[in-house]
Amino acid sequence: MEREIKFSYKYFNSINDAPEEYRSILSEARNAQSKAYAPYSKFKVGSALQLESGKIIHGSNQENMAYPDGLCAERTALFAYGANHSDEKIIRIGIVGDGDLLNEKSILSPCGSCRQVMAEFTLRQDKEFEIVMLNGDGSVISVPGISELLPLTFGTKH
Ligand code: THU
Repeated sequence: MEREIKFSYKYFNSINDAPEEYRSILSEARNAQSKAYAPYSKFKVGSALQLESGKIIHGSNQENMAYPDGLCAERTALFAYGANHSDEKIIRIGIVGDGDLLNEKSILSPCGSCRQVMAEFTLRQDKEFEIVMLNGDGSVISVPGISELLPLTFGTKH
């Protein structure tokens, strides 16, 4: 038997066309980006989590001269949330990045490891949270939850 998983996302030509809640979380991610430490890749990424209460948790990529020891902006924010604020649920995450790795043709979407971690936080709070991304050409993409980006997730029933 063949089954199909559909992938749906929202697309806006520019940040100005996106709804206020997306502009706001991307602006928080932009603020977070200023704290990125990326002397090796020169690719600075900022992320921001919005919680139910409206509280914002910022993250940015933090690199190390022993390259694999660095951490992405998304997981920096998610683990800070897990350590300090996990009594309330995450509503959405915004992600922005700048550097040669992101050109007009590329989308800024979370790496596989960050997706796996997002999947587990989703499982823990038993509720999907939106993922809002600002692409290299200035367009905005959002998905309602990690199941769009990581279908057939390890540990879930399908
Ligand atoms: N990076 C992130 O922080 N988030 C992403 O979604 C993609 C990649 C970081 C990891 C590394 O510090 C740099 O960007 C280059 O890969």
